[in-house]
Amino acid sequence: MSFEVKPLPNVGAEVIGFDIREPIGEEVEAELKALWYEHAILLFREQDIDPGRQIEFSRIFGPLEKHPLETTRSLEYPELFELENGGDKDSFNTAYYHGEPIVGRLDWHMDLHYTARPNHGALLRAVTVAGEGGLTGFGDLALAYDELDEATKQQIAYLEVAYTFEMQRVKWRFVELEGYAPGPHSPKKPSDVGFPEFPDAIYPAVVEHPITGRKVLEVVEQFLDRVVEPEKAGLSESEADALLHRLVEHTRDPRFHYFHTWQPGDMILWDNWRAMHCTTGTAPGIKRLINRTTIQGDVMLGRQLDASAA
Ligand SMILES: [Fe+2]
Repeated sequence: MSFEVKPLPNVGAEVIGFDIREPIGEEVEAELKALWYEHAILLFREQDIDPGRQIEFSRIFGPLEKHPLETTRSLEYPELFELENGGDKDSFNTAYYHGEPIVGRLDWHMDLHYTARPNHGALLRAVTVAGEGGLTGFGDLALAYDELDEATKQQIAYLEVAYTFEMQRVKWRFVELEGYAPGPHSPKKPSDVGFPEFPDAIYPAVVEHPITGRKVLEVVEQFLDRVVEPEKAGLSESEADALLHRLVEHTRDPRFHYFHTWQPGDMILWDNWRAMHCTTGTAPGIKRLINRTTIQGDVMLGRQLDASAA
């Protein structure tokens, strides 16, 4: 099978002329994996496949994970996670942004980051697309690291940052809260949506990618809470907060982003050890369905703060 690779705007690449229904030999598998590590975000368009084939294709990139939320698993395909807007979970996922109700908007994040062992990656395939909205954004944090100035690279080389798993967005310290109000059914504690509690996850501010060795700026706005022991780096708490605000602002630079407007059959695979992602959400009542498969993370990129020692 031959295919072309074309860069997407800013980051990521599109694989053109590739039909996932065709048999894929070992050589092509290796080529796809190399492309995944090179670009972090791969787009394949018009893939007319069923969940079984999506699962099989995803296994090229590693063993698959079942999502921790049993309620969102597909019964027929436990490795499939159905991301649905316009269904019965909307009320939990609705919040207000400048007075407008939006379903399923998510800030920049990395999946399972709060466990200190993020997924290695995931693959999304659009089944039903929203006529308007419902974009998914991807951000390359290896490029974001590369583009830091030398002084900042030195300043953060030995810093650690802590992430606190907290359901209430108003308590997230580094997201944009202006104009935000939770919805009447927004979860207040993890058990409201069937999650357990998690201790804080601690990461080096710069993580080396386990496969490529590239340096990744491990600063993502969702759940970000603080610099760990800032005084060891000669920083006061307010200086440490200011530094994190500056780094988060840096990750928001559109030069590091690709936002995808979905068409049915579009598929995106990303490397969750390197790329963050977000969703813009949809207006209430809009139908959107994305089938997702998840590639297991088999490496602790961070560590869990020992709750008893906190
Ligand atoms: Fe996610």
